Amino acid sequence: MRIPSGIDGLDELIEGGLLSNRVYLISGSPGAGKTTFGLQFLVQGAKMNEIGLYITLLDSPHNIIEDFSSYSFDLNAYLQQNKILFADVGPRLDYGYMDELNSIFSVGNGSNNFETESDAPSPASVFKEIETYVTQYNVTRLVIDSLSAMRFTKSDRIVEEKEISRFIRQLKRLGCTTVLLSELSGQDSYKTEQYAAHGVIILHSFLRDDELVRAFQIVKMRGTRHPCTLMELKFSDNGLKIHHNKISSRKTN
Ligand SMILES: Nc1ncnc2c1ncn2[C@@H]1O[C@H](COP(=O)(O)OP(=O)(O)OP(=O)(O)O)[C@@H](O)[C@H]1O
Ligand SMILES: [Mg+2]
Repeated sequence: MRIPSGIDGLDELIEGGLLSNRVYLISGSPGAGKTTFGLQFLVQGAKMNEIGLYITLLDSPHNIIEDFSSYSFDLNAYLQQNKILFADVGPRLDYGYMDELNSIFSVGNGSNNFETESDAPSPASVFKEIETYVTQYNVTRLVIDSLSAMRFTKSDRIVEEKEISRFIRQLKRLGCTTVLLSELSGQDSYKTEQYAAHGVIILHSFLRDDELVRAFQIVKMRGTRHPCTLMELKFSDNGLKIHHNKISSRKTN
């Protein structure tokens, strides 16, 4: 079944929408729009009465919610209706945000046992928490922000690849549609997560004639005919919008 992504201009490029119960990797450089993509995906689900869960490992839910208050989509309304849930599974210890957001339903009991604040959570511990929330709250749309903030065994490439593949395989069995966010580094090397995911989208930002240009590219979308070209990506008060004109990363002169 295809479901609307919530990203203006995307569904018409991918035969009507994302295939449900699959895992999509959204990769991008800092500030490229990864969090915005994830939230728009959950807002779309909430509009259709689905329950969405935003798993954050980097930033506090409070900061994310505050940052998105300037957009036209009414995130707070969906939070109050318990259609969008946030779970903080990162290593930070600032769980006091619950007091400030007393009208906002937020999962996450702050019981993570990390040795120090800087310890990143392991994929196994993150998955365990996700699985509990997904089952308990009947979550159908899931966003994980981000894969890059998890503690994989970086010292051994083969072990790291196995861990990433196992994590994505487990997500595929959860029964919800997952948007997995990741940092983009080294565009020339294809990463394990790109092979393992059902679909891969890259949010590019690059300098052209001293100006920062944003672009969108579908690298892979299993079972779907799609363009692979770079397309213009813009932010507006309604969030991310894909313009279907092709753009080039080359300098204009
Ligand atoms: N209301 C708005 N209207 C237009 N653009 C905005 C608005 N709010 C934020 N932005 C743009 O969105 C960018 C941040 O987007 P987002 O947080 O989704 O990126 P990200 O890829 O998740 O970043 P990070 O790597 O820091 O996690 C800002 O740098 C700004 O350029
Ligand atoms: Mg982000």
